[in-house]
Amino acid sequence: MARKLCIKTYGCQMNVYDSGRMADLLAPLGYGTTDDAAEADLVILNTCHIREKAAEKVYSDVGRLRNLRNDRLAAGGAPMTIAVAGCTAQAEGAEIMRRAPAVDLVVGPQAYHRLPELIARAHRSRGEALDTDFPIDSKFDHLPLQSRVEGSAAFLTIQEGCDKFCTFCVVPYTRGAETSRPVDAVLAEARHLADLGAREITLLGQNVNAYHGAAPDDAGGNGAPWSLGRLVHALADVSGIERIRYTTSHPRDMDDELIEAHGRLPQLMPFLHLPVQSGSDRILEAMNRRHTADDYRRVIERLREARPDIALSSDFIVGFPGESEREFQMTLDLVREIGFAQAYSFKYSPRPGTPASMMADSLPEDVKADRLARIQAAIAEGQHAFNRGCVGRTLPVLFDRPGRRPGQMVGRSPYMQAVHAEVPSTMNGRILDVTIDSAHPNSLGGTLADPAEAAA
Ligand code: SAH
Ligand code: SF4
Ligand code: F3S
Repeated sequence: MARKLCIKTYGCQMNVYDSGRMADLLAPLGYGTTDDAAEADLVILNTCHIREKAAEKVYSDVGRLRNLRNDRLAAGGAPMTIAVAGCTAQAEGAEIMRRAPAVDLVVGPQAYHRLPELIARAHRSRGEALDTDFPIDSKFDHLPLQSRVEGSAAFLTIQEGCDKFCTFCVVPYTRGAETSRPVDAVLAEARHLADLGAREITLLGQNVNAYHGAAPDDAGGNGAPWSLGRLVHALADVSGIERIRYTTSHPRDMDDELIEAHGRLPQLMPFLHLPVQSGSDRILEAMNRRHTADDYRRVIERLREARPDIALSSDFIVGFPGESEREFQMTLDLVREIGFAQAYSFKYSPRPGTPASMMADSLPEDVKADRLARIQAAIAEGQHAFNRGCVGRTLPVLFDRPGRRPGQMVGRSPYMQAVHAEVPSTMNGRILDVTIDSAHPNSLGGTLADPAEAAA
């Protein structure tokens, strides 16, 4: 019997990856995917817990789904199973069951391979089914390989969880301890993705550069775990994979091997998202980041020595408890000094159970909002300047979606910029050289360097 599955994904790329894997897992049970919850037999909300707004969304979403379901049942339609997955499921599983009785099942990020059983249990009893256990090692062993790659770019989760315990962050609680997939499993999945047509892979992990995966059986040596730098070298040899990225990294784990890889491997894209959070050493210490602003500057310096054209991105939190105007200014100075190609910034959001949420001197909302507006202006300025610096250059662009105008496509530069150009839609998934002739705040425009290439 054909059934329909609708997955709504919030949060980071790891959730995007997991949603794909859940769909692949449920396909053999007869579930085809749909974007329309109204026609779905099973709706999975893959949630994020990182800030309060993200976490609260689950309750409004469940309310809407419950109404949809009631309307459908009243009209004599089929029932709908509502599942909550992801980090809010992990953090608030029992609370969700209590506050939102319309939810049929709750499943944490390390228990997705048990979804078929949970669904069966929920159907049988129409009662609760909750699994937020942490059998991290078995999740990947039991999920099927990805079934398709869209637009030639794919995600590959190689690491999960975090042991850093930044004082503001829920991830160590929602995703569990830092664990890495074995090298063999990662290489096998990369080869599989290449066979499906992936030309770019993005390696994912909450702390991806803390990767320390079990060495391959045939590697010889002392069998010591591999670092990300070493893994990236092996991935660069996978035929078909032309571009490698990784995210998200921690400044403390940028070791020599990884920095050298940026200088040595053309497949490793010259772009790095490296969150720093603050430019003030006092705030960094209160955040338990365990590095200073100068440590961060030195990492950037070494990266630029290895790969002079590397573009940088970062995350910033403004309004951390006790942050003074002067300390905020130090963050602004860092933004201007480094010259980020892009960056994300957030108002500090106290999260239940984290040490920072118990700190005194939280800042008023208007101060946070004002600082957010100022840092966003500085980031936007830096981004536009970086984009303007690309005009006149010829960049390889991986085209992966249609543009706004007919005859146009949009792709990604090595630096993650969106690039628009007149390109036939048959070039979807191809990497073509584009000469950049215009820069906008959030994108570039260009023309094919060799139009004959696209006609071929
Ligand atoms: N693992 C990554 C980031 C994980 S969360 C790292 O270590 O950098 C993504 C971003 O959300 C963080 O970099 C941080 O800037 C932001 N963030 C996390 N917790 C937050 C909170 N409580 N309030 C506001 N922003 C937060
Ligand atoms: Fe959260 Fe810090 Fe771990 Fe990143 S390193 S996931 S911010 S605790
Ligand atoms: Fe959100 Fe969980 Fe990712 S809290 S950012 S979905 S790891």
